[in-house]
Amino acid sequence: MAAQRIDKLLAAIGCCSRREAAVFAKKGAVAVDGVICRDVSRKVDPETCCLTFQGRRIGYQEHVYLMMHKPLGVLSATEDRDQKTVLDLLPRQYRSRGVFPVGRLDKETSGLLLLTDDGALGHALTSPRHHVPKVYHAVADGILGQSDMDAFAAGLELRDGTKCRPAKLDIRQVENEKSDVLVTVQEGKYHQIRRMLAARNAPVLTLERLCEGPVRLDPALQPGQWRELTEQELESLRAADGAGKGCE
Ligand code: URA
Repeated sequence: MAAQRIDKLLAAIGCCSRREAAVFAKKGAVAVDGVICRDVSRKVDPETCCLTFQGRRIGYQEHVYLMMHKPLGVLSATEDRDQKTVLDLLPRQYRSRGVFPVGRLDKETSGLLLLTDDGALGHALTSPRHHVPKVYHAVADGILGQSDMDAFAAGLELRDGTKCRPAKLDIRQVENEKSDVLVTVQEGKYHQIRRMLAARNAPVLTLERLCEGPVRLDPALQPGQWRELTEQELESLRAADGAGKGCE
């Protein structure tokens, strides 16, 4: 990449603002190839030199792509006056570079949430014109069967008359009048899964998202934990952003 001013780089990466960069540099927090640099107007290429901020090596990334295991009780929003949001679970470096959740999960839904500062990919993944499949695991209060699977496949009508695109209902287990199911949808209407199951007289008891397009929730992530997407996950997401591809 082309060399850029140090203050611009530090701000783009989310370490601090450009103004703060000058203050930090004066205090000796910035080094280039091991030598303290107090001049933040100096241009460097972090791919070919070793730029450090507070002792930490800085590598420039144009965008960041994260997966989070969203916990229950947290809002899928960038900020809220009163309640905790998923952005509150990330370190400042991500928040200050404008990372946002790709789509929403209800406060009482857990599971896979993608976050990025790449507006184009975020838009492609949530656009109603692209049919990126999402897989949810739900426990519903009621006995679901073949007629419900058929109704999902035909395209359900919700209680308020809204029509859904064809969806897939897999029934994993029915026990004690509760159904353990997987639902795959290719759209993202408000409270969609809750409303779909309510339309079949089986209200949701618990709801968790497992997959978005080809990306699957990493089982190693505990609720509240997150990690960057691997190159492979990112490539598969880019390839799937309008192609209706789901997890294998
Ligand atoms: N459908 C819902 O009802 N809630 C979610 O959070 C996601 C899909």
